[in-house]
Amino acid sequence: MAREKQAFRTYHRTELGEIVLGDSLEVLSRREADSVDLIMTSPPFGLVRKKAYGNVHADEYCEWFQPFAGQFHRVLKDTGSLVIDIGGAWNEGLPTRHLYHFKLLIMLCEQYGFHLAQDFYWWNPSKLPTPAEWVTVRRIRVKDAINTVWWFSKTPWPKASNKRVLQPYSPSMKQLLANGYRAKRRPSGHDISEKFSQDNGAAIPPNLIAIPNTESNSYYIRYCQERGLPVHPARYPAELPEYFVRMLTDIGDMVIDPFAGSCVTGEVSERLKRRWQCIELSEDYLKGAMARFERGVYEKPFSNPEDESNYYRVPRPGILWNGDEVERLPEDGGKTRPVRVARKNKVQDQVSGVAVPPKMQQKPLPLDIAETQDN
Ligand SMILES: C[S@@+](CC[C@H](N)C(=O)[O-])C[C@H]1O[C@@H](n2cnc3c(N)ncnc32)[C@H](O)[C@@H]1O
Repeated sequence: MAREKQAFRTYHRTELGEIVLGDSLEVLSRREADSVDLIMTSPPFGLVRKKAYGNVHADEYCEWFQPFAGQFHRVLKDTGSLVIDIGGAWNEGLPTRHLYHFKLLIMLCEQYGFHLAQDFYWWNPSKLPTPAEWVTVRRIRVKDAINTVWWFSKTPWPKASNKRVLQPYSPSMKQLLANGYRAKRRPSGHDISEKFSQDNGAAIPPNLIAIPNTESNSYYIRYCQERGLPVHPARYPAELPEYFVRMLTDIGDMVIDPFAGSCVTGEVSERLKRRWQCIELSEDYLKGAMARFERGVYEKPFSNPEDESNYYRVPRPGILWNGDEVERLPEDGGKTRPVRVARKNKVQDQVSGVAVPPKMQQKPLPLDIAETQDN
């Protein structure tokens, strides 16, 4: 794909970092090799329809990404990491998934020499049940609430420590620590030693990260609204870059976001005293991003580990399984849309016979709107 050469310029500077307006490919191609500790980013996702900030079609995604991949590999230090938050896409008009983000993963490893240090899954518990057509209308898929977060490294040994991202012990682990644990072999065959019952103060997290993407009344949003600026439609929550900046870099290290949007990565890096560079094509998004820097950097509000609202309870599958399977599965896999009969305030779902609450009776979102919930 031919790419037009573009000028770029420093848009804003802080004590530790800078925002650059322009094409990150141009900016990175002028950067010294082996000079970056972490590239933390959420690129425009591959979509089956084009969206406001110029996403590429999922079918062309890998080709579009190739020159970025080359620059990312060149500018990273041997100890450095590349973390990419990327959501999947549905094939147009079908209840099947596009494979583009898996193809990207394979391309980065097999063609560009990156190592997959670990795959993470960002679960957004507040995600709407989308895509509505498959999830709430035909009821043949479950809601799509995960973004993959691929952590790549230039060598198999990027600098990292999980001690930076510990989480509170679960209630059952606390109980176990209080009551003691008898060392024994688990059904899985793992030998659990006495060390397992040692209280280290906090737990090692799994590679599932739960963060709701619900920001609706932040200073950033009010700032944009008051000035008639577009609120970036695909922001990630600050905790996501913060997790990786903490785990993979030290104070003073260099963090780059080549698809910076509203510069969440820059804000987090400034707060955590890392050097940083955010590169973004759209000046309108950068005008809004100034909200994150104009008042100086603020301390993050204190988060209380005892506050229950900081936790999610995930029901174990099976709690509602009572052997009742009166309804047969649709023989055609849901190809025929179920007929819905409206009754006063209620709609009866003719397939399941279940009353659909008024809120869910709305028309299904078009698939591309469903996809815009996060990116
Ligand atoms: C998914 S958004 C990033 C949002 C960001 N993580 C946030 O939380 O605000 C991707 C951004 O990449 C920008 N972009 C796309 N191509 C670019 C390029 N070649 N150079 C710089 N920015 C680019 C788009 O304008 C868009 O704002």
